[in-house]
Amino acid sequence: MASFKSACAVLTAVFFLSLCVVSAVSQPPHIVFILADDFGWHDVGYHSSEIKTPHLDKLSATGVRLENYYVQPLCTPSRNQLMTGRYQIHTGMQHQIIWPCQPYCVPLDEKLLPQLMKEAGYATHMVGKWHLGMYKKDCLPTRRGFDTYFGYLTGSEDYFSHVRCIHISTLNLTRCALDLREGEEVATGYNGTYSTEMLSDRAVSIIAKQSPNKPLFLYVALQAVHSPLQVPERYVAPYAFIKDGNRRHYAGMVSAMDEAVGNITQALQERGLWNNTVLVFSTDNGGQTLSGGSNWPLRGRKWSLWEGGVRGVGFVSSPLLKKPGTVSRELIHISDWLPTLVGLAGGKINSTKPLDGFNVWNTISKGFASPRLELLHNIDPLYNDEGPCPLRAQQLTLADVVSGGSWAKSGFNVSIHAAIRSSNWKLLTGYPGCPNWFPRPGQNSSGSSKVEPLKSVMLFDIEKDPEERNEVSEKFPSVVDLLLSRLRYHQSNALPITFPDDDPRCDPGVSGAWGPWA
Ligand SMILES: *[C@@H]1O[C@H](CO)[C@@H](O)[C@H](O)[C@H]1NC(C)=O
Ligand SMILES: *[C@@H]1O[C@H](CO)[C@@H](O)[C@H](O)[C@H]1NC(C)=O
Ligand SMILES: *[C@@H]1O[C@H](CO)[C@@H](O)[C@H](O)[C@H]1NC(C)=O
Ligand SMILES: *[C@@H]1O[C@H](CO)[C@@H](O)[C@H](O)[C@H]1NC(C)=O
Ligand SMILES: *[C@@H]1O[C@H](CO)[C@@H](O)[C@H](O)[C@H]1NC(C)=O
Ligand SMILES: *[C@@H]1O[C@H](CO)[C@@H](O)[C@H](O)[C@H]1NC(C)=O
Ligand SMILES: *[C@@H]1O[C@H](CO)[C@@H](O)[C@H](O)[C@H]1NC(C)=O
Repeated sequence: MASFKSACAVLTAVFFLSLCVVSAVSQPPHIVFILADDFGWHDVGYHSSEIKTPHLDKLSATGVRLENYYVQPLCTPSRNQLMTGRYQIHTGMQHQIIWPCQPYCVPLDEKLLPQLMKEAGYATHMVGKWHLGMYKKDCLPTRRGFDTYFGYLTGSEDYFSHVRCIHISTLNLTRCALDLREGEEVATGYNGTYSTEMLSDRAVSIIAKQSPNKPLFLYVALQAVHSPLQVPERYVAPYAFIKDGNRRHYAGMVSAMDEAVGNITQALQERGLWNNTVLVFSTDNGGQTLSGGSNWPLRGRKWSLWEGGVRGVGFVSSPLLKKPGTVSRELIHISDWLPTLVGLAGGKINSTKPLDGFNVWNTISKGFASPRLELLHNIDPLYNDEGPCPLRAQQLTLADVVSGGSWAKSGFNVSIHAAIRSSNWKLLTGYPGCPNWFPRPGQNSSGSSKVEPLKSVMLFDIEKDPEERNEVSEKFPSVVDLLLSRLRYHQSNALPITFPDDDPRCDPGVSGAWGPWA
């Protein structure tokens, strides 16, 4: 921005007065970030899905589709990295999600994306799912950089009543209560309003009220398309041809979400903001095959470090892109948005802790090579995956786990659930999570999906083999050595895991809704 203006001043002296008039009124772009929940790789129209997503298809066709884009395998971790620009090992949050009664949140000494946008002069609004901790008020979105907030603090609630039932392990009791807030207050009066419409309506009304002269940062974290599988019948009707009930309802939920994105985009156009807007669409993790999602042809699913868990649907749409209508195959990760968006805002990132994300705007907009050469997917020594998995019985071969196989002396404990990517290579250690290749929806699983016993160290050439079918650690031992040494390095810089027991005081009996109790 600054260099453009000063170049302009020089040019004015020469005569390009008209160019300077434009730049004098130019301001940083409005940024709208739409995060979908549990939206799988095979669930967007442009990945030849049976599900129709006309708005996502059109927006991405005129934008830049990110086809080598990674997220984390779970809700809280992806949101955490989006908001901090830092790996989970650097916030102590490498294990799982924040369950509603656990007394912790993203560490309060982390500076979050909305705070940085606010410092850059933006109006900052959030609509939807927080899931970054709420046991005390200081953890709430309104205390962490958002001017306004309308949404829910945990996850998995009812799409119509906005009630969430939670088992409090320390009390051995299940309690049901509302989870919906306007700012910090409980929001009543929305019983019966379908979440996807409720949240997109709110996003639309924020946009309608936005002054074009003040830059907007709007974070819309939709409930769609996470379970429970609930959707008004009109969205399901076009999918009568889908036999599987879960998949059919899921497809309807995707259609509602697609319509929501269409409504938000239309509001930006009607308000006259679109020509100076950068819209990002991203999933938070891979699809959950137990709840209608599909990541075909990728291996695994949500909760796993296989590609089906971490390779995400994502795109950027904006009249400001220099190469619209292209597909990016450069390595990009959800932690990259913080430096990228703060960079677009003309803001500063020198007040954050050391970032793991990179500014990838030139990669997205101009097709430059990605500055990211490595990606730590995660290291989680406490990993457990409890969901039913067809091939759980054939996990690691036991002898290999106990001895660490031929890599026992690498200095990295290869029983630990971990994965790292470096250019075309991906190394996995420990049990990566459910290892199936789930069949394409509507097709039989028989035949192609025989799974070899897993090993404690596995190497794949992801560029040639995105389906993770040909394990090549024995062919490339020096690559394995190098990547194990990188895991050792990252693990030596990891914070201890924060994962406290449920706090019995979180009982919503007092307030009638889930929310801060400490
Ligand atoms: C929890 O409560 C159920 C019945 O509500 C009981 O069967 C179970 O034994 C209890 N578990 C523990 C750990 O107290
Ligand atoms: C929501 O409305 C339904 C139907 O009217 C009612 O049964 C339910 O108790 C209401 N839930 C809440 C949390 O108010
Ligand atoms: C989109 O907008 C239309 C027209 O206002 C409305 O009927 C529809 O419910 C909206 N859809 C969603 C998902 O918000
Ligand atoms: C963007 O749209 C506004 C309102 O329609 C208009 O005044 C402005 O000139 C447009 N800017 C550009 C760069 O096209
Ligand atoms: C960040 O950089 C700006 C100048 O670019 C400087 O004024 C400011 O003091 C720096 N802040 C920190 C925390 O270093
Ligand atoms: C290696 O990691 C596994 C899984 O976290 C753990 O159970 C085991 O105790 C570790 N072994 C050593 C030697 O630290
Ligand atoms: C799946 O297999 C069953 C039983 O073998 C068969 O009847 C059915 O037609 C197959 N469906 C498809 C889509 O191939």
